[in-house]
Amino acid sequence: MNVLSLPPQRKSLIATSLIVAVSLFVVVVNYSEKPSFLFQPVFGETLFSKQPYKPYKPHLGYVSIPKQEPLKLNCELCSIVSSSGQMLGQGAGPQIDRSPCIWRMNNAPTRGFENDVGRRTTLRVVSHTSVPLLLQKPQYFFGQANDTVYVVWGPLRNMRKDGKGIVYNMLRQASENYPHARIYVTTEDRMNHCDMVFKKETGRDRIQSGSYLSTGWFTLILAMDMCKEIHIYGMINDTYCKTEDYKKVPYHYYEAGSRDECAEYLLHESAPYGGHRFITEKSVFAKWAKSHAIKFFNPPWQLS
Ligand SMILES: *[C@@H]1O[C@H](CO)[C@@H](O)[C@H](O)[C@H]1NC(C)=O
Ligand SMILES: *[C@@H]1O[C@H](CO)[C@@H](O)[C@H](O)[C@H]1NC(C)=O
Repeated sequence: MNVLSLPPQRKSLIATSLIVAVSLFVVVVNYSEKPSFLFQPVFGETLFSKQPYKPYKPHLGYVSIPKQEPLKLNCELCSIVSSSGQMLGQGAGPQIDRSPCIWRMNNAPTRGFENDVGRRTTLRVVSHTSVPLLLQKPQYFFGQANDTVYVVWGPLRNMRKDGKGIVYNMLRQASENYPHARIYVTTEDRMNHCDMVFKKETGRDRIQSGSYLSTGWFTLILAMDMCKEIHIYGMINDTYCKTEDYKKVPYHYYEAGSRDECAEYLLHESAPYGGHRFITEKSVFAKWAKSHAIKFFNPPWQLS
């Protein structure tokens, strides 16, 4: 039946019902949680920010031990605390502790350094080579009270899950001893992705150039996916070690008397085999800071 052929009263009745239906629909959409939950990330990504910030989206590049579930994480502001001796004497601890998410690397301690590095830890990115160091203090790192998320990166030979991956086996054992521990490992695909990013950014093949990526590299790649804003503490830039009378600090804040940071960096940068390209990585970080909300503190970076 055609609406136009209806008597006028019926027409206005239909028009009124239509208006009521549309208003109801608007009310339902406004008040239901789901649509706004779905819409926000879309607006966040395409309209208001340049960065690939995807709240609530499980990350398939990192899976839990032993359940193999993807990492679900997101944060408005992540403060990344470097392990550098630059952290010493800056008193940044209270400022760091005010950040909703605090990321550290490897086994860098907070105990005894609270005023400089803060007390809280929400996530640690850990190199496969540092796992034995964590396992020296398993209760401290994986005990019930610690809800820190651990993300362990490493090459397939150490991380394979078929019983032959020596580091994976250690983590599996730890997850049995500490069932509440939140331990994730980087998938093989994600490791390849991180290598691919290095090649894309530097034009050099990581394996052919005989180098290893640093824990800082994996940390920044993860943070750019998970954090809306990133504050990095204690990281030097790529020209720092060339500046006159730069500050000589220990390579790690918790290893007093160890080789000075710049000496360690230069050694690694020129090592024909087995080094980290720390300085090259820093120049890539400076580039990323132009398209992501990344800020550097103590020392600050002047990003053009
Ligand atoms: C683990 O929790 C204990 C007790 O809350 C705390 O003293 C310790 O610093 C925590 N360890 C880490 C690595 O955060
Ligand atoms: C790098 O660090 C040095 C020493 O802190 C500083 O003088 C220089 O301006 C920095 N360069 C950039 C690009 O931030």
